[in-house]
Amino acid sequence: KRHCLSVSDFHRVDIENLLRLGEHYLNLDVQKSPDRSVLSGKTLINLFFENSTRTEKSFELAGKRLGADVISMQVASSSIKKGETLLDTAATLNAMNPDLLVIRHSASGAPSLLAQKVECSVINAGDGMHAHPTQALLDALTLRQAFPEGLDGLRIAICGDILHSRVARSDVALFNMLGAEVRLVGPPTLVPLDADMWGAEVFHDMETGLQGCDIVMMLRLQLERMSGAFVPSKREYFHYYGLDRKKLGFAKPNAFVMHPGPMNRGVEISSEIADDPDVSLITRQVETGVAMRMAILHALAEAQPTNGEQRS
Ligand code: CP
Repeated sequence: KRHCLSVSDFHRVDIENLLRLGEHYLNLDVQKSPDRSVLSGKTLINLFFENSTRTEKSFELAGKRLGADVISMQVASSSIKKGETLLDTAATLNAMNPDLLVIRHSASGAPSLLAQKVECSVINAGDGMHAHPTQALLDALTLRQAFPEGLDGLRIAICGDILHSRVARSDVALFNMLGAEVRLVGPPTLVPLDADMWGAEVFHDMETGLQGCDIVMMLRLQLERMSGAFVPSKREYFHYYGLDRKKLGFAKPNAFVMHPGPMNRGVEISSEIADDPDVSLITRQVETGVAMRMAILHALAEAQPTNGEQRS
């Protein structure tokens, strides 16, 4: 594939190949002294219209470790602030002949639109409430490390603010593709009406939703995407949906906990659970993110036309 826009663009065989390459880069010896010729002579531009710590920095690190020239555009100090449109910005960047463009945008579909306008590979680093495919891939790789026999048959609960979550949408699609049973657990106001069409069973209380689960993935309450009447009180939300020791007890005895970050401690997850090394895979997700993004960049670079071939 030339772009990485959404999980559904990939067949299972592509995903398996990407995860295998991710496993290769998880080896710290490989990661710290990788083959820099993989992206040597390539230019990667990070274009983040929404805040990011994990995704932006891991793409920057991944690109540099593989030998690319990496530019992270500061949107706040760019001409976007003078009113330049997304498409004009894209045309401007395209004229500089980058090879890889990583974009995060608040509008669902912005990366797909860009992919039609530029000649380089486009990677969706999160678009609105739509998709976050590289997060789903790193989550799947984290799970493969925790469950070496694979995701087939695992029961995974994704809990909290499902409505605004691009991570939930991409994770459900990918976990289903890899054979897991996915549940969505959240208050009725924060679960989309069509969620039962995603390929996941919907629950509105943690006790029944977490029964028999191998993994409990918590999501941040995305207050920035909510308006007035539907903003829950944080204290009440934690009481019903915040993951603490008692609620984790509804899942399987050795269940693991995940969170894509950034976390809001005391809102959707307690510090006691987030920081418990016996159950929390949260730091492991961040470590895995660098390896998985090295794999994605590597695979896209290999899929690009070589010199002399027509770019399409
Ligand atoms: N999970 C995730 O996308 O984190 P950032 O917003 O820090 O990139």
